[in-house]
Amino acid sequence: WPDTTLPSLQTGALAELLLVLLGLKVPGAASCPTDCVCYPSPMTVSCQAHNFVTIPEGIPEDSERIFLQNNQITLLLRGHFSPSMVTLWIYSNNITFIDPNTFEGFVNLEELDLGDNRYLRALAANTFQGLVKLHALYLYKCGLSSLPSGIFGGLHNLQYLYLQDNHIESLRVADCGGRADGKVLAHIAANSRALHHETKPTLPNRIVGTAGDDGRTKWKIANSR
Ligand SMILES: *[C@@H]1O[C@H](CO)[C@@H](O)[C@H](O)[C@H]1NC(C)=O
Repeated sequence: WPDTTLPSLQTGALAELLLVLLGLKVPGAASCPTDCVCYPSPMTVSCQAHNFVTIPEGIPEDSERIFLQNNQITLLLRGHFSPSMVTLWIYSNNITFIDPNTFEGFVNLEELDLGDNRYLRALAANTFQGLVKLHALYLYKCGLSSLPSGIFGGLHNLQYLYLQDNHIESLRVADCGGRADGKVLAHIAANSRALHHETKPTLPNRIVGTAGDDGRTKWKIANSR
């Protein structure tokens, strides 16, 4: 054979093809963080239950669904995620601080589960600012004793807000977004009796509390014309 480079090139291409056929390599796929599983359409990164203490490096920019529950992550900072994100599950971690700019400009975000982060304790008023598509926000069991005024303002699509197992004594439902464009926050789950007494007289909407199967009060806000 006069040309010896050709067979080795072919061997390389063959090895590549074999990896693709075996499903070990997706052609053109972005990298995936170590110890995570990624799959496309929509781009999904699954990193749950791996003892991560920080957000793993290398989450693809175009990730729409990110699953990080059951780790020990302590901080959420600006730049950890990108605005392509639609769903973030990061419940059952050890988040103690959320930089108020973490979700700035995340206009696609629909579901944010921050529940069971018992050392969180406080949130800045602008943490969720501009999340116009946010549909479900989970903040149960986060050690919260109060919420800053206006924290849910502008969340025009918020339908589900979970606040059970905190120490919140009052919540101005007027701050819960929604109403400004005619929609109402349809459902609040809370376990505090004080919440009921503090908020009822000042409500712009009618609030209906019913006992849930788990014995907790489920709040429903009905639009009163
Ligand atoms: C979680 O954070 C708290 C408060 O910073 C700390 O005391 C605790 O040790 C942490 N727990 C774990 C499992 O890292």
